[in-house]
Amino acid sequence: MNIPNHVAIILDGNGRWAKKKGMPRNYGHIQGAKNLEVIIEEAHNLGIKYLTVYAFSTENWNRPKEEVDGLMKLLRNYMKTCLKTASKNRMSVRVIGDKSRLDDDIQKRIAELENLTRDYEGIHLQIAINYGGRDEIRRCVQTLTQKVCSGEITSDKITEELISENLDTAGIPDPDLLIRTCKELRISNFLLWQLAYSEFYFTEVEWPDFDKAELMKAIEAYNNRNRKFGNVSEQ
Ligand code: IPE
Ligand code: IPE
Ligand code: MG
Repeated sequence: MNIPNHVAIILDGNGRWAKKKGMPRNYGHIQGAKNLEVIIEEAHNLGIKYLTVYAFSTENWNRPKEEVDGLMKLLRNYMKTCLKTASKNRMSVRVIGDKSRLDDDIQKRIAELENLTRDYEGIHLQIAINYGGRDEIRRCVQTLTQKVCSGEITSDKITEELISENLDTAGIPDPDLLIRTCKELRISNFLLWQLAYSEFYFTEVEWPDFDKAELMKAIEAYNNRNRKFGNVSEQ
């Protein structure tokens, strides 16, 4: 079995999962966070090197205040749990997205988590928080424009590589496989630049129910794809 080097996941369906059970949406988010722990462990055991998960989009601020507050509380607690998981699996953690809009204490916990796990080589986890692909590209354009204006570089130095190096995912290979749970067939502003040649896998399973067997199904489907990068077929 060919294990993808980098798997990205749009973990969707927490709300619908909770509703089916007659529970509040935030209960679904709590179960979703617990499931993330399970999938990190499974990914690590399978030898997946990079795992990137979409936890909170730039658009998710538009949700009812009660839900946003619940999600922020969960993220706050998650940073602590994540530190334990990181030590156990020698996992490095990076948060991608615009962290400046997050509460100061959350930013502090993120910085602590990133600094303490920076050199771990077991698995690399990227958590997208206040992340939007368009916003990431906008921030990258701002950075590069400033470099041109200050004379640090000339505009002809702006290559695809330089753009990649100025995104939040700098240094991380592009995803080989994108998984989205719970029916929706769209990418909802996730990794717009980086997904250029990723294989997509959509499943009806809601995120809190996405387990090891479901992850294996996604990897099997990936193995049946004819990977092509514009050139002739590999198979
Ligand atoms: C995904 O679950 C988690 C976040 C976006 C934070 P949703 O909350 O989007 O669940 P559904 O799509 O409403 O079921
Ligand atoms: C995408 O899910 C964002 C995250 C999983 C964090 P959404 O549920 O917010 O996306 P839409 O609204 O269905 O496009
Ligand atoms: Mg959703």
